[in-house]
Amino acid sequence: MVEVLDYDLVIIGSGLAGLRAAIEAAKTGQGKLRIAIIAKNQLMRAHSISAEGGSAAVLYEEEGDSFDLHAYDTIKGSDYLADQDVIEFFVRQCPVDIMELEHWGLPWARREDGRIAQRAFGGHSFNRATYASDRTGFFEVHALYDTLLKYGNVDKFHEQFAVDFLIDNNRFRGVVAIDIATGEIRIFKAKAGIIATGGLGRLYGYTTYSHLVTGDGLAIALRRGLEMKDLEFVQFHPTGLVPSGILITEGVRGDGGILKNAQGERFMERYAPKKKDLAPRDIVSRSIMTEILNGKGFKGPNGLDYVLLDFSPIGAEKIKEKLSQVREIGIHYVGIDPVESPLPIRPAAHYTMGGINVNVLGNTGVDGLWAAGEAACVSTHGANRLGANSTSECVVFGKVAGGEAAKWLLKNNNGVSLLEGDRKHAESIVAEVNNQNGDNDPYEIKRRLWDIMDKDAYVFRNEAGLTDGLKAVRELKKMSKSIIIKERGNVYNQNLIAAFEMRNVVELAEVVITGALERKESRGSHFRTDYPNRDDVNYLKHTIARREGDKILISYLPVKLTKWKPEPRVY
Ligand code: FUM
Repeated sequence: MVEVLDYDLVIIGSGLAGLRAAIEAAKTGQGKLRIAIIAKNQLMRAHSISAEGGSAAVLYEEEGDSFDLHAYDTIKGSDYLADQDVIEFFVRQCPVDIMELEHWGLPWARREDGRIAQRAFGGHSFNRATYASDRTGFFEVHALYDTLLKYGNVDKFHEQFAVDFLIDNNRFRGVVAIDIATGEIRIFKAKAGIIATGGLGRLYGYTTYSHLVTGDGLAIALRRGLEMKDLEFVQFHPTGLVPSGILITEGVRGDGGILKNAQGERFMERYAPKKKDLAPRDIVSRSIMTEILNGKGFKGPNGLDYVLLDFSPIGAEKIKEKLSQVREIGIHYVGIDPVESPLPIRPAAHYTMGGINVNVLGNTGVDGLWAAGEAACVSTHGANRLGANSTSECVVFGKVAGGEAAKWLLKNNNGVSLLEGDRKHAESIVAEVNNQNGDNDPYEIKRRLWDIMDKDAYVFRNEAGLTDGLKAVRELKKMSKSIIIKERGNVYNQNLIAAFEMRNVVELAEVVITGALERKESRGSHFRTDYPNRDDVNYLKHTIARREGDKILISYLPVKLTKWKPEPRVY
């Protein structure tokens, strides 16, 4: 039995981008559109709530910040792979959207005089990370959700796991999902859709991503023939807590914290003499791993050797006021109060610079289908994102996609019909995973994937490792077609969902590694020890990956440069 629900617009994902898109679509649609927003767990628990440190925006031009400075920092941070026209739009929009959140009740931290406070973040040459303690994403999600409640024509669906998009003749027609609570299959028939499902996520074992993030929207898009852009650029956040990988915000270093090796040295002085601990993340992560590989780290569990993040320059009072969540994390997860002792950290997979290839309006190239936030690659971050630019990106481009989809719907309000075979197709998509006769355990496949990615596609990469990694991932891909799902019930069948998630991360890993193998240079987060230099002659271009049958095809697109010429990145 397949239930069909009928909407004008379906938004897949309820993080910052999805919520912001829903608000804008509802507003632009002036009550004329029926909108559904579907969440993989509960609407208030998307991974966006884990964002800690801040959202970048130019708020104080009179004090020396400027749009050009934010743009230049972002472009240099991206190792010149970001599209500069996109960034010029983005930096101008950030303050507008940050002030909108202020008006919607977000409790931004304040200066003494009552104006909004901002903290330092890596690679930014002005303190422009607007923050709410170290729970910025949590408060942003709440402000957006509260605002969304004003609009009566948005239906909210919790615990819906998307398994396919209906697309025919390049026209979007809806989403197939499993209602996790009942196991029922649903079709959200819709004239338009917005993919806001977040990044690649749990391709890696050691990561700041919650278990929720498994690249579902990206994997479906890949299977449906959409283009992936720059997926080899995975950001490793310098300070994942050992051994869990939980994020310890860059705000710690922004507020004065420093990194130290096992010899007690402040080693960042050697790698980035000017910016030191506040160099961009790719550089800090490589520096940490260089220290560790040179024997200057501490021995950690399961090979997770680490260095230390020392909070002491910040002072107890400020730690308690501005970094209360990461303090709690230290106490609860490793039994260390950072007021008293440093935390053990090492780089953890954190963010997907690439994503579904979209233009600046979020359009995917499929009629009626947009993408926004980390799922999309509008090319704001190039090869390395600056901290605090992602939550801003989600609100800026979530709003753009929501507005665009609504305007398009008001003009193109002709319905989409359910095709003859759609119900059968929806059932067969679920059966394809659920009814396999193999004996491979999906959880074991995922664990093996984590080992491969943590070893071969981490901070330092090379031909031999990537080649081995690709072979091993392809083997897992074969195994993923012959699995056993032990739990057979319908109600909250987590084994079934885990099997879909496993397939998604394995298929996406193949794209990440293929792009990384083909890019024979080092740029931003993608560092090849066998090609240690940036190569603008051959690789100042975006990677486009597309699946045809079972093959990943790679092509390239030029980078859009406006007024900033590529130059060496010195910090
Ligand atoms: O370190 C952090 O608080 C993370 C922020 C970000 O990824 O932008």
